[in-house]
Parts: sequence; structure tokens; C-alpha cells
Amino acid sequence: MIKIGVLISGSGSNLQAIIDAIEADTLDAQIVTVISNKADAYGLERAKAAGIRAVFLDPKDYPDSAAYNVAIRDELQDQGAQYVVMAGYMKLLGSEVLEAFPMRVLNLHPALLPSFPGAHGIEDALDYGVKVTGITVHFADEQFDRGPIIAQKAIEIAEGDTPDTLAERIHAAEHKLYPQVLQWIADDRLTVKGRRVVLRS
Ligand code: GRF
Repeated sequence: MIKIGVLISGSGSNLQAIIDAIEADTLDAQIVTVISNKADAYGLERAKAAGIRAVFLDPKDYPDSAAYNVAIRDELQDQGAQYVVMAGYMKLLGSEVLEAFPMRVLNLHPALLPSFPGAHGIEDALDYGVKVTGITVHFADEQFDRGPIIAQKAIEIAEGDTPDTLAERIHAAEHKLYPQVLQWIADDRLTVKGRRVVLRS
């Protein structure tokens, strides 16, 4: 069993998928805290409804980004988190957290990295005109959407797709893949060699 802290900024549908996988016994994990940088993130309500500790940390309460990230790190460590799972957390995570959890911070991105990094991966892929996009789960480092890739899933773009119809398929794939990757970690199946993440059978 792994203890995870989840970072969110919004809807938290991936948080919900992780909660559901734990409840269905397909993921051997415990969520020890959910931290949001937004007061109105719906994911906070999802956490509370599941009886999980939910914390809003307001960046405005801290003098700078380093102090804010120390607060995140302290909350994660105080609650005994072993892994940090970013699930729609829309801020760059600071070295204060990354150094406390080396190769233990995961991020989810709605495109096939290194294509279409940034906050608009779904729209950017559609606007560019690629025929295949997808999703990526990777270890986070000090730059957005750059760390070693753990898993990806390709999703075809259909002729009539809009950002909404594509997002629906992207999210459905995310909700399957993220809990699965977390279970690989719970089973200690991942080894990182440089940028390459190897999944043992
Ligand atoms: C997901 O599409 C994820 O790839 C991106 O932010 C979105 C979060 O959605 N990083 P939700 O808050 O989990 O519903």
C-alpha cells in the first residue's frame, strides 16, 4: 500500500478516478491529503465526500513561491505521503517539493508529450491538426511537462471533433491510465534509467 498526496486546482475528475479505484480495490493506495491552490476547486468537495482530508492552501498567504511550496511539502510530509500525484494542478511545483520526493512526483498531461506541453494540450493538438493525440503520465521535474515518461496512450482525432468531444475521450482514458500507473508504483514495478522508465512484468 502506498500513501499518496494529491494536488489539484479544479474539477478533480482524476482524483475521483483514483478514489474510485481505491474503493474498488483495484488500487492499493491511501490518499492521505488532497491539496488545492484554488478555494473553489470542486475536487476538494470530492475529497470531503469520500472522507479524505482536503486542504486549500492560498498562494496569497505566502510571501513567495518558495514559501508556498514549503507549505505544500510540510502538509504532504506531515500526513505521511510517500508519493505526490498532480491531478490537474495548474501551478509549477517548486524544488522544495520535488527535492523532498525525488522521482516520487507524478503528473498527468492531456497530450502525447513532448508534443503540446502547457495548459492547453487538448486545444493545441486540435488546432495544429494532428490526427493522433493522447495522454501522458510522467515523473515531474522543475519544468512543466518534461520529466521521464511512465506511460502514454494514443487517441485518434476524428474529423468532427471539437475541444469538448476530444476532451471527453481524453478524460476517459486518463481515468483508466492514472490509477493503473499508481498500481504499478504500489507494486514497485518501475525503474528509472536516465529518461527511460522501465516497467517490469
Ligand atoms: C486533466 O486533463 C489533466 O491531464 C490535466 O488537467 C486535467 C485535470 O482534470 N493536467 P481533472 O481536474 O482531474 O478533472
